[in-house]
Amino acid sequence: MHRKEIKEILQSKPSPNSISVSGWVRSFRSNRFIALNDGSTIKNLQCVVDFENFDETILDKITIGAAISVEGTLVESQGQGQNVEIQTSKVEILGEADPDEVSLTILQPKRHTLEKLREQAHLRVRTNTFGAVMRLRSKLAFAIHEYFQKNGFNYMHTPIITGSDAEGAGEMFRVTNLDPKNPPLNEDGSVNYKEDFFEKETNLTVSGQLEAETYAMGLGKVYTFGPAFRAENSNTSRHLAEFWMIEPEVAFNDLDANMDLAEDFIKYVIQYALDHCQDDLQFLEDRLLNEEKNKPQVERSEMKLTDKLRSVLENNFVRITYTEAIDILKNSKDNKKKKFKYLIEEWGADLQSEHERFLVEKHFKCPVILFDYPAKIKAFYMRLNDADEKGRETVRAMDVLFPGIGEIVGGSQREERYDVLKKKMEVMGIPEEELYWYLDLRKFGTCVHSGFGLGFERLVLFVTGMGNIRDVIPYPRTPGNASF
Ligand code: 4AD
Ligand code: MG
Repeated sequence: MHRKEIKEILQSKPSPNSISVSGWVRSFRSNRFIALNDGSTIKNLQCVVDFENFDETILDKITIGAAISVEGTLVESQGQGQNVEIQTSKVEILGEADPDEVSLTILQPKRHTLEKLREQAHLRVRTNTFGAVMRLRSKLAFAIHEYFQKNGFNYMHTPIITGSDAEGAGEMFRVTNLDPKNPPLNEDGSVNYKEDFFEKETNLTVSGQLEAETYAMGLGKVYTFGPAFRAENSNTSRHLAEFWMIEPEVAFNDLDANMDLAEDFIKYVIQYALDHCQDDLQFLEDRLLNEEKNKPQVERSEMKLTDKLRSVLENNFVRITYTEAIDILKNSKDNKKKKFKYLIEEWGADLQSEHERFLVEKHFKCPVILFDYPAKIKAFYMRLNDADEKGRETVRAMDVLFPGIGEIVGGSQREERYDVLKKKMEVMGIPEEELYWYLDLRKFGTCVHSGFGLGFERLVLFVTGMGNIRDVIPYPRTPGNASF
C-alpha cells in the first residue's frame, strides 16, 4: 500500500479507501489515541485504535518515541483542531523505544530548556520547536537559491580549503596532514609546510568572496552558498565557528546597486517564509508569546513574530553613513548617560553590537544599512573614497543591521584600481605573491563591482525568532564545543 505523508493526509478528505502512514509516536492517550508525527509538518495525525481489536503486546509497544506504521481509513475527526483522523485497522511496530530510557531523554514530553535540548542535539529535531526551525531553515535555503536563479545569478562553489585569508583578520583554522606531535621542522625550528600535503600553509575558508570576484569577472553575476569557518573566540549568541554564508558578487554594480540587491534579496526570502511556512511560523509565534508571558513587562517584545517579519517588508531600510551614525550615537541618551559599555567618543571607532542594536531597535526601529566606514577598520579589498573635508578616509563598505540581531550582512564595493589596491596590500602587509591572481583581475578588464555576505544562521534567527544561534543549526560549533 502506498505510504502517505501526514502533511498530505491532513489536507485530504475522508475516504473509505485504506491508507498507510509511518511516523514516530508523540503520545498515546487512553490506549486509544495515537498522536503520530513524521516530520512532514508540525501537526500530528491522530490515529484512533479500538483496543479491543488489538493484541496487547502490540499496544504495549506503542510508546513515546517508537517508530510505527499505521493502516486504516481516513474519517472525519470528532476531536478539536483537526478535520480528519485515521480509524486504525493495523499497527506495525517498526522500532521500539523503551519508556524507561525515553524518560531520561528530551523525547519525554515536558518543558525542556533549550540548553538541555542542545545536549541531545541528535534527538532535538523530534521536538516541535526544532522541527519547525529546521523545516524553516530548509525552506529559506531554497528561497535563497530561487531568488538568485530567477535573477540570472550563477551558483558558484568556492573552495573550502584555501591558502588565503579573505578578511585578513587572522581567524583561520589550519588544515594540515602533518603529525602535530612530530612535524617536520626547518633549520630555524619552524614547521616545514613544504612537506605538508599541499606543500604550503592552508586553512578552512573564512569567506568565498575573493574567488567569487574572479568568477563575477567572467560570468557577471555569481553567488556562493557554503560553509565558512572562523576561529574567533566570540562566545556569543550570534557567533559560530562554522556557519553558512551566501555571497553574491556582481560586475558593474556600485555600492548603491549593492544595497538595493541586499534589501530586495532579504525581503524576498522573508516573504517566501511568510507565504510557504505558515504552520511552523504560527507555532514559533505562539511559543514566543508563551515565553513572553514569563518575562517582566519591560522586557516583553511589542510585536508578534509574523508582524515583525511583515514590518520588514513594508518599509525601506534606512541608509546612513557611518559618520551620520556616529553623530546619532554620540548625542544619544544612552551615550551621555554612559549606558553603553563602550562609549562613543570619537570618529573612527568600530561599532559594537550594542551600538548597532541601539540604532535599529531604539532609534530607527527598522533595518538600517550603514555605509562608508573608516578605511582603518575594514578589510583591504574595499574601495577607497576620496578623503572628506577633514581628511578622513572611508571605504565603500556597507553593513545591514537588523533588530534583535545586529549585523546580518557585511559587504562593499570592491577596489577595482590596480595601483590603489596594490598600495593598500603593501601597507596592510598582505604579500603580493599570495594574491597575485586577485590583483590580476585589476589588470585585465577591471571594472566597478560589488558584493556582500549574508550570515545564513543570523537570517534563520531573525525569521524563527529564536534567541541563540546554536539553536538554528543542527550541530553548532562554538569555542570548546564540537560534540556530535
Ligand atoms: O562581515 P563579514 O565578515 O564579511 C565577509 O566575510 C565578506 N567577505 C562578505 C562579502 O562581501 N562577500 O561576514 C558576512 C556576514 C556577517 O554580516 C554575519 O552575518 C555573518 O557573515 N558572520 C557570522 N555568522 C555567524 N558566526 C560568525 N562567526 C560570523 N561571522 C560573520
Ligand atoms: Mg562584518
